[in-house]
Amino acid sequence: MTDVHAPVALEAFRGRSVVSADDFTKEEVLALLDAARAFDPPASVRADAALRDRILGTLFFEPSTRTRLSFESAMLRLGGSVVGFADANMTSSSKGESLADTVRVVASYCDAIVIRHPKEGAARLAAQVAGIPVVNGGDGSNQHPTQTLLDLYTIRKATGRLEGLRVAFLGDLRYGRTVHSLARALCRFDADLSFVGPPTLRLPDELREAVRASGRPARELDALEDLGDVDVLYVTRIQKERFPDPMDYERVRNAYRIDRASVKRFGEGLKILHPLPRVTEVDPDLDAHPGALWFDQVRNGVSVRMTLLSLLLGGRAPGRRA
Ligand code: CP
Repeated sequence: MTDVHAPVALEAFRGRSVVSADDFTKEEVLALLDAARAFDPPASVRADAALRDRILGTLFFEPSTRTRLSFESAMLRLGGSVVGFADANMTSSSKGESLADTVRVVASYCDAIVIRHPKEGAARLAAQVAGIPVVNGGDGSNQHPTQTLLDLYTIRKATGRLEGLRVAFLGDLRYGRTVHSLARALCRFDADLSFVGPPTLRLPDELREAVRASGRPARELDALEDLGDVDVLYVTRIQKERFPDPMDYERVRNAYRIDRASVKRFGEGLKILHPLPRVTEVDPDLDAHPGALWFDQVRNGVSVRMTLLSLLLGGRAPGRRA
């Protein structure tokens, strides 16, 4: 790894919430990614080592496969336990209980909470009332900071660095929370950022301004053909569930698709990421591309989330299997 950083005391993470990609300094991100190597692969860690007697609450008000199950897997691998729900219709929210009350109640059963919610700001509210660490597992179109941590880990593992990379985002730049969090994080690493997508799905003004305020250009393009050389291509699906008008979705649903031919000019060194789920925007033939990293991202998600839970909950250092 070529990124160097000032030392960060890992105890500094204890008891904190993670709501935004901006919640960690660059040095803290690098320290966390360094620490995650001890959990990679996840099975190398003794399951009973770190978080025995701790309970994670998973509050998922929106569908999820990766985020919920990888957090649960991470907690179980660390010897902890999990309570929670994946269908809010089966909870007292359906009787009108407020989000704040639900969070206060679950916080009295757990040591940390992971929450996914369709409303932007829901995780921030949860963190304000919980009294225990709250991790944002995605709040509407806003942010998905732990996806960003695993994305950064994956990019760093594949390229050997984070500093000064040329990164292009392709897809739903307006509603894609993984794009919003990762772009904010990459600004700290002097990345050269390009944003490619349909004109109706451009970056939110606030994010465009944040990128520019960091001194980086926010280069916005309509088509992949207009893009110069890049090191990393980060593809997202169009977030159908966020469109207020279904007809607007129909107009853009097939606006882009990458395949072997469309990425050939970037060379075999190109790294391609996708947070998944994917729908039609990636040809499955690309799974065999040497730079296709989406299933690496999935695997790294457990290592990174084990690290994060261990640090937030002040667990003992991991012990490797003999
Ligand atoms: N990448 C991601 O957030 O996937 P899920 O929606 O399945 O959690």
